[in-house]
Formats: sequence, structure tokens, C-alpha cells
Amino acid sequence: MHSKSVLGAALFTALARCTDPVDHRGNTTAITVSGSVPHHAGTPLEAFVSYSIEFAFFPDFAGNSSEPNTFSNNLLNNLGNLQGTKPYIRVGGNTQDYALYDSSLKTATFGIVNANRSVDYPTSLSVGPSYFESYTTWPNTKFIHGFNLGKNALESGRLLYWELGNEPDLFKTSAQGIVRPASWNEQDYVSEWLNGTRSIKAVLARACPDLGAPKWIAPSFAGTNNSLQPIQTWQGGLDADKDIALISSHNYIGGATQPGVTLQGTLMNHSSTVRSISHQLNESSYLATLLRSLNPSLPFILGETDSLYNEGAPGLSNAFGAALWGVDFNLWCATNNIRRVHMHQGTDYRYGAWQPIETNKTTKGTKPPYYGSIAVAAMMGDLTKGTTAIANLPLQHDEEAAYAAYVGGMLKRVMVINMHEYNYTIISSAAPSPRPSQTYALNVPQGCSGFGVVQRLMANGSDAISGITWNGVSYDHELGNGMAVAMGNATRNEILEVNSGVATLDVPWSSAAMVNLQCCKCGY
Ligand SMILES: *[C@@H]1O[C@H](CO)[C@@H](O)[C@H](O)[C@H]1NC(C)=O
Ligand SMILES: *[C@@H]1O[C@H](CO)[C@@H](O)[C@H](O)[C@H]1NC(C)=O
Ligand SMILES: *[C@@H]1O[C@H](CO)[C@@H](O)[C@H](O)[C@H]1NC(C)=O
Ligand SMILES: *[C@@H]1O[C@H](CO)[C@@H](O)[C@H](O)[C@H]1NC(C)=O
Ligand SMILES: *[C@@H]1O[C@H](CO)[C@@H](O)[C@H](O)[C@H]1NC(C)=O
Ligand SMILES: *[C@@H]1O[C@H](CO)[C@@H](O)[C@H](O)[C@H]1NC(C)=O
Ligand SMILES: *[C@@H]1O[C@H](CO)[C@@H](O)[C@H](O)[C@H]1NC(C)=O
Ligand SMILES: *[C@@H]1O[C@H](CO)[C@@H](O)[C@H](O)[C@H]1NC(C)=O
Ligand SMILES: *[C@@H]1O[C@H](CO)[C@@H](O)[C@H](O)[C@H]1NC(C)=O
Ligand SMILES: *[C@@H]1O[C@H](CO)[C@@H](O)[C@H](O)[C@H]1NC(C)=O
Ligand SMILES: *[C@@H]1O[C@H](CO)[C@@H](O)[C@H](O)[C@H]1NC(C)=O
Repeated sequence: MHSKSVLGAALFTALARCTDPVDHRGNTTAITVSGSVPHHAGTPLEAFVSYSIEFAFFPDFAGNSSEPNTFSNNLLNNLGNLQGTKPYIRVGGNTQDYALYDSSLKTATFGIVNANRSVDYPTSLSVGPSYFESYTTWPNTKFIHGFNLGKNALESGRLLYWELGNEPDLFKTSAQGIVRPASWNEQDYVSEWLNGTRSIKAVLARACPDLGAPKWIAPSFAGTNNSLQPIQTWQGGLDADKDIALISSHNYIGGATQPGVTLQGTLMNHSSTVRSISHQLNESSYLATLLRSLNPSLPFILGETDSLYNEGAPGLSNAFGAALWGVDFNLWCATNNIRRVHMHQGTDYRYGAWQPIETNKTTKGTKPPYYGSIAVAAMMGDLTKGTTAIANLPLQHDEEAAYAAYVGGMLKRVMVINMHEYNYTIISSAAPSPRPSQTYALNVPQGCSGFGVVQRLMANGSDAISGITWNGVSYDHELGNGMAVAMGNATRNEILEVNSGVATLDVPWSSAAMVNLQCCKCGY
């Protein structure tokens, strides 16, 4: 009998493996999810999922009055439909500080690439009057416009906020060109910034009195410990005019050509994200104390961020694994009250969420990181309806992360991200191996019973650069010009039972799953 039952079990396991592509060898991991909002939760602002678009490439993304870029607009609409507001667009980056206005220029931009400084963007740039048409092509979209601090130039638009200078903490050291002497310090920066913003204010008051007084995001430093310290700029009177609306910082997890950077070790790694963002959290908590008497509610945002600086690395920043990183990274920011995150974009950038036009380097299309933005926006839900709070649910391993979303104080959604690398290219060239999966027991309050609805962020593996879906839907350019297209080969809205406060969820390696608990009756 004994040997027969063992054989039976083996046969059953073998059969199960034939019909079920997922290998359930992992142990179950318990996740405790509080029914009420934990103290450490963060409260994202509207348009939490936002973008930053490199100044020189904005016309590629937005098009112009005669040829608006409808593909980009469709992608922005998808996010707006999920989070209640279309992403806010910061137009800026390194090229904002090279831009000079040329009223006689017949094209939107005229840039010269100097490969000694950067192969990825022009380091000399003129913009003409038609550049500003690009601000009118996306309906219901709000912008932050970046002015040049490196060289000084002015032009106006109809915008949400303004920014003067990109990453001035690198002005003394930048590989793209040094524009300030070694002696330039925080106080010099503050003086220049105040002088510049006051000049712009005066010009606007004369030219566009209807706009009202401009509000700024600042200081937009590349980091928290470069050649200028952000905190010293506030101590030095950066907000003397009380017209800063948001504290903006920039962050990248690592560099595109930095030795030792890998998908698993650097991006699909919760601890690496925690370590990277700890610098911003130190800054924001210090500023919260410093500014308490001045402006206690000044929100802290990431005005520019993405996976790997210098425009990303192929095989890393453009792979599905980077989309999973993006989900963990954005939700970790949200948890910690970094209240809006602008993912940076540019034409041909390796970390781009989408490529807005066809070039000889990159195919026009929706790229994996966009699907990360979609999953984050789905987790946020409509942020214009009631207060949403995001809390991290601590897990043991670097390769996993989980979050809960509360709306109006009620638990609504749980996101689990399994960041174990599953490289299907390697695996399919060797012996076919079932894709491992981790089982999570979500311990929601005991009184919860009924069912949840599961939506998955899925692809064939962490190295996939196409075939990505969110809840069985593709937003690929070639299918619907960026509009949602339901795929026949991917599941949607799976039903998950919730019994006496426990829901058991399988999450395959290199994928994420969000459980909507809306249909679950909770007696708490
Ligand atoms: C977890 O799995 C390992 C290997 O399959 C097994 O030895 C161990 O007993 C399991 N632990 C639990 C708590 O199930
Ligand atoms: C508008 O965009 C189209 C397509 O990129 C381009 O051919 C045209 O020159 C642009 N118009 C202006 C005024 O820049
Ligand atoms: C780039 O650097 C090389 C070597 O230093 C130099 O010969 C060349 O003139 C530089 N090109 C430009 C455009 O500055
Ligand atoms: C002040 O701003 C004006 C206008 O941008 C500029 O011409 C001038 O050089 C600035 N002065 C200082 C000291 O930065
Ligand atoms: C800041 O940078 C300096 C010089 O590079 C370094 O010695 C110091 O450890 C850094 N501080 C932090 C908090 O990273
Ligand atoms: C994740 O990142 C941390 C911090 O950089 C590092 O110590 C750890 O080894 C990494 N984990 C993996 C699995 O690579
Ligand atoms: C945190 O900020 C304070 C105040 O500027 C600074 O002294 C300290 O070095 C910072 N610590 C880290 C880890 O960045
Ligand atoms: C690719 O396009 C750029 C910009 O239009 C152009 O300067 C370059 O010569 C092209 N390269 C090739 C290999 O066609
Ligand atoms: C995945 O496997 C392929 C094929 O071996 C390899 O070229 C690629 O670098 C791997 N990708 C990652 C992100 O490790
Ligand atoms: C993903 O895997 C399926 C099933 O093996 C295959 O049909 C499909 O072509 C793969 N997609 C990509 C983008 O590799
Ligand atoms: C579903 O089909 C699309 C388009 O053919 C493909 O890219 C994707 O990899 C497929 N997904 C699966 C899971 O087979």
C-alpha cells in the first residue's frame, strides 16, 4: 500500500505539472494585512503616477497642433482612467539648461549632439515658437515647465508649476559640461534662484497677468549629497518668497554602465530600492522639521526619477523586470509619503515607458515600464475620490514586496510583487522548467469573507520586452495605438476566495498580482 500511494502521489504531481505551468514547490508565506490604516502609511497626491519628459524631446512625445501625438495621449488617458487624473508632465531635464529661445526658428527644436558630452541628447539646443504648440496637444493635461538656469532664457506657457534649473547640484561637476566655478555654493545658488524666479515673475506679471503668480517646484537636485546640499538651500532662504509649491528631488537606483548592476541584484530587489530612497527620506524628514513653522504641508515629490541614470541600459531598464521594479519603487515611495513620482522619459531612452516616434534606434511602441505605471495607477485607484493611503507589508526576502491600499480608511487592495528573476530565454534554451511560484496567505481581518478579484502584471519572464499584460489587457501601439485591447491568451479578473479572513494567492516568479477586496464583506 505504502509504495502504491507514493507512486500515486508521484503520478499526480507529474500530471499536475503537465496541466499547470506553475510549480508550487515554495512554502506559503503569510502576510498580515491590517483592516485599519497603519501609522506608517503614506497619502499620495492626485496624479501620483506622473512623468518627466526630457526638454529636447517633448515635441516628439506630444506632437504639435497639426500633428498631435495621439498614441502618447492614449497612454496618458489609460493612466488617467485608473487614477482619476492624467499624469502631470514635468518638461525638463539636462536639456532644459541648454535651451535658448530663437523666435526665428522654423522647427520646434534645433539640437546638436556632441558625442563627447552625451550620445543620448543634444547639448546645444534652440527652441522655436512652435515648440510651445506641444503644450496644447494633450487635453486635460497639466504641465510643469522647466526654465534654463544654466544659461538664462525665458518663455511663457499656460502651466501648473514652474521649475528653474535642473540638477544644479551637478553644475560644478557634470560630465556634460561644467557651468559653475568650484567656489559656487548653496548661498550662490539660492541668490541666483531667487533672482531668476523674481525676474520671471516680473515678466509674467507684465506679459500674462491672467496667469497669476507662478508657483515653483525646487530645488530639483540630482541627489541628496552632491556638491550642493539641498537642506542648506532651504536654510539659506530658498523659499524666502513663499512661492515653492512642492519640494522636488531626483533619484536613480544606479547607473546604466555602473559595474555590477543586474536586474536581480539592483532593480528586482526591494532592499536596493529601500536603500536608494532612504536618502530622500532623510531629507524629507529633516525638511519637515525645518519647515514646520514656515510651511508644514509642503509635499515632497520625485520630480525626475527612473531605474538607471544615463537613460538606462538595454536588457535591464527596458525589460519586464524593470516594470516590476517600477511597481515596488513607486509603491515604496507612496508608503513613505513621497507624494508624487515623475518617471523620466526621452526619445530612444532605454528606460522609456514608451517610444513616441519611430527612429533608427528604437521602434515606436509601448515599452515594459509603462505596464509598471499602469499597475501602480490601478493600485492607487481614483485618487480624486476620498483619501487613499498606501502601506508596505514587510516581507523577509529582497525578491518580494507587498503593499495595501486603503480608501477612506477601508482596506481595498493588496499588491504582491514576486521579483524572483525568471529568465525565460535562458530557461527555454535549456530543459523546459516549470515557472516557480510563491504562495502567499493574505491574512486580512478575520471578519472578511467572500471573494476578491485578482489582476496580474504578467509577461513570459523578467527578460521579456514584449507581450506584457495588465489584467489580460495590452496597451501596445501595434494593437490599438495605445488603447486597451483585451488579449485572448491571458486571464482577467480571476476570482479568489476569502474565507474567514484568509485568501491564498499564487504569484509566479517575475510577476505581480493585485487583489481587489471590494466584493469581500468585512465585518470590521
Ligand atoms: C518548506 O519547504 C522545504 C523544502 O521543500 C521543506 O523542507 C520545509 O519543511 C518547508 N517548510 C514548511 C514550513 O513548510
Ligand atoms: C509638426 O509635426 C510634424 C510631424 O513631426 C512636422 O512634420 C512639422 O514640421 C511640425 N510643424 C512644426 C511647425 O514644427
Ligand atoms: C571630441 O573629442 C575629441 C578628442 O578629444 C576631439 O578631437 C573632438 O574635437 C571633440 N569633438 C567635439 C565636437 O568637441
Ligand atoms: C538676475 O536675473 C537677470 C534676468 O535673468 C539676469 O540678467 C542677471 O544676470 C541676474 N543676476 C544675477 C546676479 O544672477
Ligand atoms: C556625502 O558625500 C561625502 C563625500 O563624497 C561622503 O564622505 C559622505 O559619506 C556622504 N554622506 C552620506 C550621508 O552619504
Ligand atoms: C539587494 O540589494 C542589497 C542592497 O544593495 C544587497 O545587499 C543585496 O545583496 C541584494 N540582494 C540580492 C538578492 O541581490
Ligand atoms: C540626513 O540629513 C542630515 C541633515 O542634513 C545630515 O546631517 C545627515 O548626514 C543625513 N544622513 C544621511 C544618511 O543622508
Ligand atoms: C539616425 O537618425 C539620426 C537623427 O535623425 C541621424 O542623425 C543619423 O544619421 C541616423 N543614423 C543612421 C545610421 O541612419
Ligand atoms: C536572459 O537570458 C538571455 C539568454 O541567455 C541573456 O542574454 C540575458 O542577458 C538574460 N537576461 C537577464 C536580464 O539576465
Ligand atoms: C510567450 O510564450 C508563449 C507560450 O510559449 C509564446 O507563444 C509567445 O510567443 C511568447 N511571447 C514572447 C513575447 O516571447
Ligand atoms: C499572448 O499573445 C501575444 C501576442 O501574440 C504574445 O506577445 C504574448 O507573449 C502571449 N502571451 C502568452 C502568455 O502566451
